[in-house]
Amino acid sequence: MPRSMFDTAEIPPHAEVIVVLDFGGQYAQLIARRVREAGAFSLLVAPDTSIDQLKALNPKGLILSGGPASVSESQAPRCDDKLFDLKIPVLGICYGMQLGCQLLGCEVAAAEAREFGRAKLTISDHDGLFADIPTNTTVWASHGDNVADIAEHFDTIASTPNCPHAAVRHKTVKFYGVQFHPEVTHTPHGVNLLRNFIYEICKCSGTWSMADFVETQCQKVKDKVGNGRVICGLSGGVDSSVVAALLARAIGDQLTCIFVDNGLLRKNERQLVEATFRDHFKADLRVVDASKEFLSDLKGVTDPQEKRLKIGHRFIEVFKEAAESLGEEVKFLAQGTLYPDVIESGHGMAGVSANIKLHHNVGGLPKDLGFELIEPLRNLFKDEVRQLGDVLGLPPHIVWRHPFPGPGLAVRIIGEITDERLELLRDCDEILLEEIIANNLYRSTDQVFAVLLPIQTVGVMGDGRSYQSVIAVRAVETQDFMTADWARIPYDVLATVSNRIINEVRGVNRVVYDISSKPPATIEWE
Ligand code: XMP
Repeated sequence: MPRSMFDTAEIPPHAEVIVVLDFGGQYAQLIARRVREAGAFSLLVAPDTSIDQLKALNPKGLILSGGPASVSESQAPRCDDKLFDLKIPVLGICYGMQLGCQLLGCEVAAAEAREFGRAKLTISDHDGLFADIPTNTTVWASHGDNVADIAEHFDTIASTPNCPHAAVRHKTVKFYGVQFHPEVTHTPHGVNLLRNFIYEICKCSGTWSMADFVETQCQKVKDKVGNGRVICGLSGGVDSSVVAALLARAIGDQLTCIFVDNGLLRKNERQLVEATFRDHFKADLRVVDASKEFLSDLKGVTDPQEKRLKIGHRFIEVFKEAAESLGEEVKFLAQGTLYPDVIESGHGMAGVSANIKLHHNVGGLPKDLGFELIEPLRNLFKDEVRQLGDVLGLPPHIVWRHPFPGPGLAVRIIGEITDERLELLRDCDEILLEEIIANNLYRSTDQVFAVLLPIQTVGVMGDGRSYQSVIAVRAVETQDFMTADWARIPYDVLATVSNRIINEVRGVNRVVYDISSKPPATIEWE
């Protein structure tokens, strides 16, 4: 079997499949997702998938992704040399272009001028790949090699000042290559290019949709669990809510959801989860109030890593106990793992992505609890999950919720966690979010929250001196939460937030705004 991200049982019947060969580029899954957005089903497979295995997937087209290697290196990943015998259209992107060109007889050499970042593309042939794309446009380039001696076999269809053959078409074989990344948002017409490849060149008709995804995933879950019981940890966030909704649709009352109140939640969070569940799911919900245990573990703890460890351990214990108390053997655990989680924990296709955020398992469960995992979202990006939530009928306030970390307010209270400090932060956070929503900024930002700092500062209140806490406001814009920029919240809104917090929350006399991007800062403060 191809070592594919999607197992082939997930291909919907009658789907038009575009297979993406992953050469280790950071954008390979993004290509697959752009193809899905365009209406074809996409499948990410290992680069060395054999031609017979590829044939078995019955693809309408192939895309060779970018990758960090240089095709001239001996260890560079390669594809089956007979790839072009399939006689289906192939699009090579960056490394994929160089590899394709090399297989078709060209020399690939280090470029005189390497190209990284924005480049001006001039299109010389608008047939097929560049149909309806302006002659002069911008693209996002990232390559150090160029293809030479192209003229004999290829037509050049676009160029940039540093790259004379920025896009090429083979004269006889159905191969197209681009030296830039059409899948990233910095290439404004990139989506049109991919659509042209899918529709004009591969002749797809656009039959795939999120509704198909629901159907195939439901069937897959049913086949896997039979009449067994499945548990799902509900956090109130969009990912676990979508998983629960999908499973509720697939297996109904075989699903039990467990919500752990760890005492570190935002104001009214538990009530919101209970109400949403009651109104939108037809499955069993167990709410476990373990706030006393969590808060007692955290007493006197100020070190961020220690907080995370204690929360993580307690969560696992509480969850296991809740599962055992169901009085029925539970074999399956459903989780809202997304594709960025897979990448961030170093399990991407090429197995090379660094393990950046081990700590993000906090508030989640380790793999070795003895359950079989059901992870229906593991190939999706966050906004695809939101789309799925919408298709499943979840209300907008759940579908569009900003993420909230597993360790909750513990990582937003710098220093010791006490009942009083939790209460204070909850009140500040509530005011902040009220103002963000009232000013229509909730959808244009991706995460907004308040942080309680461990210092007191001097102020004047009335005629007297005050010596009270400082609240930091954090608001970020991000696509993937791996990088983020601070949101340019209008001054007037910040002014209202600051006034309201200082006037309405006793114990705070100063509000500051966090203007750091990630990297080098992270989104959370701990
Ligand atoms: P950082 O702070 O690393 O966070 O920039 C990126 C995103 O991840 C969330 N986050 C977590 N989520 N368990 C979670 O479930 C965690 O331990 C955790 N730590 C950070 C954070 O809120 C942001 O959305």
